[in-house]
Amino acid sequence: MKVLILHGPNLNLLGRREPEIYGTKTLDQINEQVEALASQLGLAVDFFQSNHEGDLIDRIHQAPGVYQWIVLNPGALTHYSYALRDAVAAVGVPTIEVHLSNIQGREEFRSHSVIAPACVGQIAGFGAASYFLALYAIFERAGEA
Ligand code: DQA
Repeated sequence: MKVLILHGPNLNLLGRREPEIYGTKTLDQINEQVEALASQLGLAVDFFQSNHEGDLIDRIHQAPGVYQWIVLNPGALTHYSYALRDAVAAVGVPTIEVHLSNIQGREEFRSHSVIAPACVGQIAGFGAASYFLALYAIFERAGEA
């Protein structure tokens, strides 16, 4: 089972970006922990981060036939990118939206996700563990298949 982990804009700055909100782990550290958990669960993971909407969309377009699941942290694109949402809906690869922070408990504009309706579910508010929980959900679903 192959899982594509997509990180959107500004997530490359994790570790020094508003650590009181996003924590002190760098993106590389989070990816290492995600990779370690994935291997325990028997999942293969690839990672991609971009600050560019189109690059994320291109990766989603390339996912069918390669990846069985996508874990997507769209960053601020969450709140307005109909193009990203349409890409998720178009390819038919089941996708879990994740956020480090609890987007419901922050500024009003963050409480709405235009991506979530195209996803299987959304996990938010647990820092790096939001990604871990997404992997557990995929592992559980795989066992049901
Ligand atoms: C985020 C939440 C978004 O609102 C924000 O724009 C981000 C990070 C999160 O992981 O908590 O860039 O997606």
